[in-house]
Amino acid sequence: MLRKIAISAVSAFCLMTGAAQAAGGEGHIHDTAFAHEGPFGTFDKNQLQRGLQVYTEVCSSCHGLKFVPVRTLADEGGPELPADQVRAYAAGLDAVVTPTGDERPREWTDKFPARSGEGMGPDLSLMAKARAGFHGPYGSGINQLVKGIGGPEYVVAILTGYTGETKEEAGTTFYANTAFPGGWIAMPPPLADDQVTYADGHPATMHHMAEDVASFLMWTAEPHMMARKHMGFVAVLFLIGLSALLYLTNKKLWAGVKGKKVA
Ligand code: HEC
Repeated sequence: MLRKIAISAVSAFCLMTGAAQAAGGEGHIHDTAFAHEGPFGTFDKNQLQRGLQVYTEVCSSCHGLKFVPVRTLADEGGPELPADQVRAYAAGLDAVVTPTGDERPREWTDKFPARSGEGMGPDLSLMAKARAGFHGPYGSGINQLVKGIGGPEYVVAILTGYTGETKEEAGTTFYANTAFPGGWIAMPPPLADDQVTYADGHPATMHHMAEDVASFLMWTAEPHMMARKHMGFVAVLFLIGLSALLYLTNKKLWAGVKGKKVA
């Protein structure tokens, strides 16, 4: 909460000083009730696993996750895949090119592959925290206090915001997208209903897949969110206890003075 207040204060300040706003979210963006939201929200492990599947089968051909170590897929609070599955997953990724130019199989201690070159998109490791979905009302950022910053919502809005219109400019095709700032994005619509088959039988509509992969990207951007919230809760409890003790100490120290009648 404090963090959100601080961030809102900063964005209000940016507005006042005319500094650039956080990128993204100029179009209309729906609020989504993600499991990880709120002071006690936790990531939904099954949703993270589905999101990983969408990333692997769809997004990874164009987007890297170069800051995310593969082994963290087994971490508590994340997708929590069994260690043997994570090792097998790592082995299935692109080989690592060593500084000498040789190739070796990717280990689970390596990071996810990066992507660069023609037609490739930006790295997604931190995307869900690099974009804000909600700026209003009137750019004050107050909505972020209520709805959250809206990074994952922005990802969902991008993935589901295609209108079907395209245009060609300087040899590049652009696709009309209601969430992308400027309205035209160079990413072809990546999702369509039933594009992946979920192992847990969850319906794979475009919207579900978008939410699952957005939740997964929130986890890659902030893998220790649950630990942070837990620590914050303990700290607040501690401060409440400390305040009570200080209040009582203060009362006791001043009792002699305050009890006196002023002549
Ligand atoms: C065919 C390649 C391709 C695929 C597949 C693809 N993307 Fe992209 N993506 C791009 C490109 C290119 C851009 C840069 C678009 C631009 O700047 O106009 C991009 C941009 C983005 C952005 C950034 C928007 C911003 O604010 O900068 C997000 C988020 C994103 N992609 C998410 C995804 C997700 C999630 C998937 C999988 C469901 C996916 N992409 C699949 C090519 C792809």
